[in-house]
Amino acid sequence: MKPRVLVTGGAGFVGSHLVDALIERGYRVRVFDNLEPQVHGRGRRVPEYLNKNIEFVKADIREKKRLREALKNIDIVFHLAAAVGVGQSMYEIERYMSINTGGAAILLDILANERNDIKKMIVASSMSIYGEGAYYCKYCKKEVYPGLRSKAQLDRHRWELKCSACSNILEAIPTREDKPLFPTSMYAISKRDHEEMFINFGITYNIPTVALRYFNIYGPRQALSNPYTGVAAIFSARILNNNSPLIFEDGFQSRDFVHVDDAVRASLLALEKEEANYQIFNVGSGKKLAVLELANILGGKLGFDNEPEILNKFREGDIRHCFADISKIRSRLGFTPKVEFEEGLSELVKWVKKQRAVDRVKIATDELIAKGLAR
Ligand SMILES: NC(=O)c1ccc[n+]([C@@H]2O[C@H](COP(=O)([O-])OP(=O)(O)OC[C@H]3O[C@@H](n4cnc5c(N)ncnc54)[C@H](O)[C@@H]3O)[C@@H](O)[C@H]2O)c1
Repeated sequence: MKPRVLVTGGAGFVGSHLVDALIERGYRVRVFDNLEPQVHGRGRRVPEYLNKNIEFVKADIREKKRLREALKNIDIVFHLAAAVGVGQSMYEIERYMSINTGGAAILLDILANERNDIKKMIVASSMSIYGEGAYYCKYCKKEVYPGLRSKAQLDRHRWELKCSACSNILEAIPTREDKPLFPTSMYAISKRDHEEMFINFGITYNIPTVALRYFNIYGPRQALSNPYTGVAAIFSARILNNNSPLIFEDGFQSRDFVHVDDAVRASLLALEKEEANYQIFNVGSGKKLAVLELANILGGKLGFDNEPEILNKFREGDIRHCFADISKIRSRLGFTPKVEFEEGLSELVKWVKKQRAVDRVKIATDELIAKGLAR
């Protein structure tokens, strides 16, 4: 019999695709998810897309009794349940830390104190824990890891990072796992907690554990009406409502967009390869793309005629560039991203066209401005 897997947050975007892949490979799957209204709507109904061949537990990660029951007879844990909005985490601090850091603490506390059969754990970490990515100064000829840009610089709308030694503009280079961490939001701090708590627990109790630093995952099923996370989904929701995507800074900030099928493939390798044990891996495409370019390609594919709206504003804690160095996961686990960006985006657009989305992006942006978190 194939092992039994518990996927917390398994009704969400990444989790539901992971569940499909696990079922296809013969694993027996139990999903633990509270169907958070911000992601699943006020009705909090089990999403249509969720695989039917699973056991479903509707409960909050902080309900210790329910979680204890759900961990019974489980061999493998994928911990994905989390509150996932970066900006929102800066004014709903108690909720974010309670669900993310507190939720992980409850899960690990159960495993530390009660008999269990867990043989492997994989935790969803995030590229957000890096803060700014890695950079190179071609004049000083060295790799540098800058902190956040100063407010004075951002107020002057000088968006690019400069070398602290020679003041020339730095070039973004792929970010390796050993870059010093510099989380710039409560969300990112809680993801670092996830990673460190799980790896520490795994080493202490001899349970092989892996942390995956997902970059910007895109694909079908990402909640379109959730304005707090997922840039491709947020732009899609704007366009579906005939509104231009709203873009902070000048649009030339870049990210690493990785298709959800590739993120799932990496997650399965982390599960099935022993070489992954006790390791941390970047999960990205290894390529950078400007946010404005994403908006333009999406607009084009969705047949939207208007230009994106460049806000020339900035959000507290935002970084300029970060994209993954994927040589570690490539060499140790044999991971190669397979979905080309154009192809992945066409698939996303096909799905988006069949959806309805409530556009709450303007409200969320105004909320940030009102709280002094964007200007
Ligand atoms: N999507 C990305 O680009 C990305 C990037 C980096 C890291 N991650 C991480 O991957 C994981 C999955 O992200 P996603 O994009 O699928 O998000 P998602 O919001 O689609 O899924 C998260 C799921 O967790 C559930 N959940 C939230 N709070 C819960 C609670 N208190 N108790 C139980 N369940 C709860 C939600 O109902 C949802 O189904 C998260 O841990 C996230 O931090 C995602």
